[in-house]
Amino acid sequence: MELTLTKIPSNPDELVKAFLTEIRTDYVVNNPFFKSLKDKKYTVKQLQMAFAAFAHYRSLFSRFLGHMILRLPIETEEWGPCGLNLAEEYGYGKPGKSHGILYANFLRGIGLTVKPEFIIAEELKEMPECAKNFERAFVKFLASAPIPGIVGMSGAYELLDGPEAKAQREALQKYGFTKELAYFTEHEIEKAHFTKYNEDQLNKYWSNPKARKDVVEGFNQVYRIQDRFYSELHEFAISF
Ligand SMILES: [Fe+2]
Repeated sequence: MELTLTKIPSNPDELVKAFLTEIRTDYVVNNPFFKSLKDKKYTVKQLQMAFAAFAHYRSLFSRFLGHMILRLPIETEEWGPCGLNLAEEYGYGKPGKSHGILYANFLRGIGLTVKPEFIIAEELKEMPECAKNFERAFVKFLASAPIPGIVGMSGAYELLDGPEAKAQREALQKYGFTKELAYFTEHEIEKAHFTKYNEDQLNKYWSNPKARKDVVEGFNQVYRIQDRFYSELHEFAISF
């Protein structure tokens, strides 16, 4: 299943709505990872390994925000929303509140071992193939994406956070994992991370048909990259 918004929405708000609708009705419902998680198809070991692999993915993501910033112009402050997202990843500097630390606490909560100050589980220190492929796909798109495409990508990631985290948290609770879920609840508030800055950026590009198309392609790419990552994460999980 693949999101392709062939029809360019008439305004950014419609794009956001279409994207969120598609995520809720398809991706976090039908992607084999989310489906297996929700239907409690994973053994505890498989679930632990899936989330240990996810730790690699989420560590990479912080660096990708840096990659995006590097591709944005220096004459303006187009990097701002990405910069905010990066600051948020580090918990705005509040001790113990970085998303890496919150995630490490969660991993311990599901019975994995994470050494103090580390954000990767001892049980899976080597980066799994699904995370490596995620990195390749991301870097490949980013290398040639036009600026509005990168801006679209950054906005789309902000929108994904909420529905993904909500689906994960609800499923984890079904498994009886109810401790240390702050990583998920932090990300869950839908659109909370999609700021006025993201909105302003999209609005700015909307008057230019080429830029508009590039923004939409950024959204589509994010959807494809995420859908593939989670499908491969599922394959990884069931290999245990
Ligand atoms: Fe985060």
